[in-house]
Amino acid sequence: MSDIIYDYINDYIREIIPDSSGLLGQIEREAEKTDLPIISKEVARMISVLLSIKKPQKILEIGTAVGYSAILMSQYLQEGGQILTIERYDVMYNAAKENIQKAGLENTIYLIEKDAEEVLPNLEDSFDVIFLDAAKGQYNNFLPHCLRLLKEDGLLIADNVLHKGTVAKLRYDVPRRQRTIHKRMRNFLWEIIHNEDLESCILPIGDGVALCHKKTNKAELKG
Ligand SMILES: C[S@@+](CC[C@H](N)C(=O)[O-])C[C@H]1O[C@@H](n2cnc3c(N)ncnc32)[C@H](O)[C@@H]1O
Repeated sequence: MSDIIYDYINDYIREIIPDSSGLLGQIEREAEKTDLPIISKEVARMISVLLSIKKPQKILEIGTAVGYSAILMSQYLQEGGQILTIERYDVMYNAAKENIQKAGLENTIYLIEKDAEEVLPNLEDSFDVIFLDAAKGQYNNFLPHCLRLLKEDGLLIADNVLHKGTVAKLRYDVPRRQRTIHKRMRNFLWEIIHNEDLESCILPIGDGVALCHKKTNKAELKG
């Protein structure tokens, strides 16, 4: 159930989206029965729409879990395109590896088993799309790396930015143990909205999604 929009609206949106077939469908059914953390149906749809417009060549994902979103996004890559995805938890990493193999995508989706905090500073590639879907308390630290690694005209998508709606509440209305994440996520959202290199918005779907477009440097293009 949604903590962000009325349940009846959320239920309706979910109802009209058909379940996926094949491996993605299997993972969706498993996620419903267990606690598998995968993107919600409506966020999956939104990403599909954005990527079908963007047609990326290179995607960076931070937070693979079992590989559901990586496999979904791979459908929208240009021919020969690649996804680099980072997962720090061995159980998830192993499940993702198995799913990527089952999907026959070993040459398309490259999986790194490490904390993104260690990986991101050493990456030098640039990406058309970055999907940030990891520990919410780290988004703020990851942002400078995402901005450095994102190509001009690239898209940064960050999931779970409203954290069950708590991020929109006043600090004193949030349980004490959640206040650090509350503060960090608010800093992240303030930064993306006010950063002059980005055009950003916050959408109240799923657990809250932030979309950031990295502006192109028009002066350089003219020159
Ligand atoms: C919400 S799940 C990702 C779901 C996945 N994107 C999907 O929709 O199929 C978040 C995952 O990020 C991983 N994670 C969290 N913080 C991380 C970090 N700093 N580095 C790498 N992985 C991280 C967690 O172990 C978890 O599996």
